[in-house]
This record gives sequence, structure tokens and C-alpha cells, in this order.
Amino acid sequence: MVCLITGSSRGLGKAVAFACGQRGHRVAVHCKDRISDAKNVAAQIKDSLIFKADARDFKEIKSLVAEVVKKWGRIDVLVNNAGITKEALLLRTSEKDFDEVIGINLKGAFNFIRAVAPYMMNQEIKKIIPPHPPLAKGGRGDYQIKQRSGHIINISSFAGVKGKAGLSAYSASKAGLIGLTLTTAKEFSRYNIMVNAVLPGYMLTDMGEDSSDTAKEKTLEESLVKNFSNPDLAAEFICNLSETTGITGQVFNLDSRIL
Ligand SMILES: NC(=O)c1ccc[n+]([C@@H]2O[C@H](COP(=O)([O-])OP(=O)(O)OC[C@H]3O[C@@H](n4cnc5c(N)ncnc54)[C@H](OP(=O)(O)O)[C@@H]3O)[C@@H](O)[C@H]2O)c1
Repeated sequence: MVCLITGSSRGLGKAVAFACGQRGHRVAVHCKDRISDAKNVAAQIKDSLIFKADARDFKEIKSLVAEVVKKWGRIDVLVNNAGITKEALLLRTSEKDFDEVIGINLKGAFNFIRAVAPYMMNQEIKKIIPPHPPLAKGGRGDYQIKQRSGHIINISSFAGVKGKAGLSAYSASKAGLIGLTLTTAKEFSRYNIMVNAVLPGYMLTDMGEDSSDTAKEKTLEESLVKNFSNPDLAAEFICNLSETTGITGQVFNLDSRIL
């Protein structure tokens, strides 16, 4: 399987890249600036490619995706994970910050979907259907059917469903990502492309660590099991989801805060 994981230089994206690599998949590792981090991730995956691109720049994304397809012939899984946050109360949030967060978290995912989906729609997987009932040796052999395929997993957030004081731009971008997921799932199901959203829970990655103490305390307060989420466990869930069939248009919450 060929997996493109956006924002996989660190944090959750890195954990997803490793989990995919461990399952023997080919992984396109992507970053915005931290190319040496991305190289370190790619170095630990048997079959990998490294890309640096701003999620807001459709031209860059399109050529990145074309390079993946040129090298490996297909893309089976897209995980839209790249994201940023800017913590400030709404009246203190500048227009520039609002646009930046929406541009990366929401339009960035739209850009990647636009670039990847045409390949997923046209690619065919060969599925071997054994003859039924099994034929004796020398009988008619197995035959193949062709089927279109793909998985798109958008990393949203609990804040996108419930809202969070101090995170207006972020919450709006993540709520938008859920709307994008549901609509894309409806449009793409006829192509056998499964589109789902995952809310990974509060993780102590760079993003989680950088947030205010109040944000961390509030999360623990709402958590029924009083802990933060683990990126490796979230990554396993995301990889498992990418291997399912027939699950689409769903939003999965991976922590113990009640939606
Ligand atoms: N951490 C949490 O508690 C939490 C909770 C819920 C949801 N999430 C979501 O989970 C995802 C991953 O979060 P994380 O905590 O792993 O974040 P992180 O550690 O801060 O990593 C962010 C990743 O996004 C990339 N990125 C940043 N700006 C970009 C841009 N303009 N274009 C392309 N890529 C860009 C970064 O690349 P560089 O390394 O090159 O900068 C990095 O790989 C995000 O979508 C986040 O919103 C996180």
C-alpha cells in the first residue's frame, strides 16, 4: 500500500508514518519546514519518500502527489494530518492568524484531497476471486475483477465538535474538516474511496505541549479516565481504519471525553 501522511515530520503524523512503515507500506513523509526531522522519520521506514510543501499551496501539493504516483504508481491512503493552532480569545485573534489556521488546517486538506482523489478514482486494484466451488486442478482458474479504491482520513479535533474557548480559528477549521469529510464521503463512495475523520484526543506532541496550562487542565477535567491521548495508539487506529472496507462518512473520537 502507498500512504501519504501530511505533516509527518513529528507528532501524530510521525507516529502514523511509522505505523504504516511497520506494516510494510510505502510511505510518503511530508513536512513544511523541518526537513531534517522528516529525513529522520523516512530513514526508519523501509520504503519512503520525503517531501517539503506548504499545505496552502495547491501547485506544490499537486506536483508532490504527481511525484509519489510517478515513483510508486498509485496512492492508497491519504492522511490529512498537517495542522497548526493559534491560541487567543476571538476578539484578540487577528484576521491574519485566522486565515493562516483555516488555510493550513482546512484548505490544506482540501488541496491534498483535490490532488490525490483523481488518482484514487482512476486506479484499479486487482482482486483475485477464487472460483466457487473450488475447481479441481486443471479446471478453470481464478479470475480477477478490477475495482477503484482509496482511503482518506482527515485529522480533526474534539474542539471542532464541542468548541473550545481560546481556539476559535482552530475549532472552526476542525469543524469545517468534519463537513468536508462527510461531503467528500458522499461524493466519493461511488468510487470506492472511503473518507473518515478522526479526533485523536489531546496528545502531548509539540502542539499539545505548546498549549496553555488551562487547555491541558480543561482536557483532564473532561476526560473520564483522566489522561492524555497517546499518538502511537491513535496511529494504530488510523492504520487499522485505512485497512477496512465499507466504513465511510464517520467521525471517530479516540479519547474519553464525551462528545
Ligand atoms: N496535539 C493534540 O493534542 C491534537 C489534538 C487534536 C487534534 N490534533 C491534530 O492532529 C494533527 C497533528 O497534530 P500534532 O500535535 O502532531 O502537531 P505537531 O506536532 O505540531 O506537527 C504538525 C505537523 O504539521 C506540519 N505543518 C505545519 N504547518 C504546515 C503547513 N503550512 N503546511 C504543511 N504542513 C505543515 C508540520 O511540519 P514541520 O515539522 O515542517 O513544521 C508538522 O509535521 C493536527 O491536525 C492537529 O490539529 C492534535
